[in-house]
Amino acid sequence: MIFGSRERIELKTPDQVRVMRRAGLVVASTLDAVRAAARPGLTTADLDAVAARVIADAGATPSFLGYEGYPATICVSVSEEVIHGIPGTRVLEVGDVVSIDCGAIVDGWHGDSAISLVLGPDGALDVEGATAVDGVDAADLDLVRATRTAMWAGIAALAGGRRLGDVGTAVEAAVELAGGVSGVDYGIVEDYVGHGIGTAMHQPPDVVNFRTSDRGPRLRPGMCLAIEPMVTRGSGATRVLADDWTVVTQDGSRAAHWEHSVALLDDGISVLTAADGGRAGLAPFEVVPVPLDA
Ligand code: MF3
Ligand code: CO
Repeated sequence: MIFGSRERIELKTPDQVRVMRRAGLVVASTLDAVRAAARPGLTTADLDAVAARVIADAGATPSFLGYEGYPATICVSVSEEVIHGIPGTRVLEVGDVVSIDCGAIVDGWHGDSAISLVLGPDGALDVEGATAVDGVDAADLDLVRATRTAMWAGIAALAGGRRLGDVGTAVEAAVELAGGVSGVDYGIVEDYVGHGIGTAMHQPPDVVNFRTSDRGPRLRPGMCLAIEPMVTRGSGATRVLADDWTVVTQDGSRAAHWEHSVALLDDGISVLTAADGGRAGLAPFEVVPVPLDA
């Protein structure tokens, strides 16, 4: 590639963004259902079955199934697994950090989102409710919260920023801030990045989760971007398991992953994979998303 050249970024019309919103809402309700179903004793394949049913009932198509040979509807990545965990026979346990990544297609347009949760005895814990739970490491709750906040900081940078590089700057600053508060030196995963999204799940541009000297392309209305920080309690270095998919931390530290698909519009941004369009997540950043569900 010629230095400084830019891959073409697909700009979406407002009508196309409205179709992406429908895909985004399917992903949001799928992740809600998986989160509600998650409990100790279930396998990660059980969570995949929940997701497959919700997507099918919505009349949508899973993006991941068959993508470069990927064999399941969602990715379920447990504890030291960062992303791309293949659902299977692994049994969920109290104290696990469970990251669930989901994509769906409606009328050819994609939505992509991920959540992380910490499993208590009865299911996912509220990471804001800081009460101690037997078998749960409070530092894992901090990790999940820090990663989610970093995602929202990155999304907010799309509203206030001028260049794509502002996202990585905001994500890294948020991770550093959260680490300072918790007294942890979090790692940011650099081997995997966010991306453009639209008629394909992965489109240009890459969206890195750290500061770089490359300020990146100018942010423009019509861009749709998946913002997805991956944060660890140790080093950000990763490796891929022998199944050729599962990405784990090299040092065995636990990791979290949060993701939303976001549209840049003439009058602001809208978080396509958040049921409320991003209203609650963006409020601390004093960003009000553009409503899409008229
Ligand atoms: N959703 C992931 C991402 O955020 C990609 C999943 S890989 C797949 O980019 F193979 F499972 F599709
Ligand atoms: Co993604």
